[in-house]
Amino acid sequence: MFKIKIKGKRLKIFNLLILIFIVFTFMFYAITFFSLLFSDKYEDSFKVKKENYELENNVTFTNYFKSCVIKENYKVSTDDKIIKKALYNNLQEDGFEVLDNTLVRLTKQNKTCDKVINDYKKTHSNNYASFKLNGKSTINLNDGSKYEDEYVTLVINNKQSDNVKVNSNLNNNRIGTYLITYKASVSDDYNEYLYRKINVKKDMIKKVNKEPVIEVKDGLTYVNGILIVNKKYGLPKDYDPKVNKEALKALENMQADAKALNLDLTLISGYRSYKDQEILHQKYVLKDGEEIANTYSAKPGYSEHQTGLAFDVGSTDRSFSDTIEAKWIEENAHLYGFIVRYPKDKTNITGYIYEPWHIRYLGVDTATKVKESKLTLEEYLGIN
Ligand code: DAL
Ligand code: ZN
Repeated sequence: MFKIKIKGKRLKIFNLLILIFIVFTFMFYAITFFSLLFSDKYEDSFKVKKENYELENNVTFTNYFKSCVIKENYKVSTDDKIIKKALYNNLQEDGFEVLDNTLVRLTKQNKTCDKVINDYKKTHSNNYASFKLNGKSTINLNDGSKYEDEYVTLVINNKQSDNVKVNSNLNNNRIGTYLITYKASVSDDYNEYLYRKINVKKDMIKKVNKEPVIEVKDGLTYVNGILIVNKKYGLPKDYDPKVNKEALKALENMQADAKALNLDLTLISGYRSYKDQEILHQKYVLKDGEEIANTYSAKPGYSEHQTGLAFDVGSTDRSFSDTIEAKWIEENAHLYGFIVRYPKDKTNITGYIYEPWHIRYLGVDTATKVKESKLTLEEYLGIN
């Protein structure tokens, strides 16, 4: 067998390998021991409370000769899944990894930990950077309405900074929940995040009023298929349909049900021709003057009574508003297909004072929708 000689001793190659192994093992432990002996460890921790989440941070700085190894752990607490997801994504972009529900980042800097800790403390101290949302952290918005972001305030070293990137997926024309992310670069390697949630909700008023379809047929104006007569939209002089049979039947049912409750909904005025309205309106003008007359009486060609779809019931005296009949009409007319056409406090829209006795036939379905919307017919159709 091949043999070598060391210091006069003959060793087998196998023994030599064992010796090398022992020497290297010893050196390895010696280096580890000395490096640990000369390494420093610092720990720091803090809790950050933001508008819609909380971060618990724990950081360890370990000196290895001339370099500093930094281990950061973040624990995120929030009940909001959307914000949690965004925060996780953003921190992962910053080099964090998810380990056991904690975000962990290991970095190394080629300077001593003393210097790193100083920088770190600066960027994490409240005096150094303050980052706040302006306005609310959750905003409710009607779909289609304009959104003006109130932005954030970032102050670094007592100076206002606009070193903020805004990321948003907001679509204010679609119902849903959206998130606006504000990323502030506080220092080269440290970012802060803030979030704002936008709930885009259905706009009830806008939905029913949305883009009315206005059609004019034979001088009659229909909005979304509904014949409209008001101060703006009139009727031809020769439009003479007489009373609408369906509306009359509905009125009779209503009167019968009211009568069973001992309520008197006597018909005061139904269908009126152009000529009838002309005479009536002229009478009121002579009595009260044009301006006042126009607040309670339509000019000829502009009265709903000419459609055969409107009726005055009970009494046309002002005192009617205080009667059980008026209250009953208000609450039940829609069940027969009618609406109170000139409601209280809506003169600015309808052009007429409150007329608790004047009902307009629309059919049960539409009348119910209009009543539930608590809007005038003009508002409901989007033509006010
Ligand atoms: N009193 C209502 C407005 C009309 O004259 O038609
Ligand atoms: Zn009337």
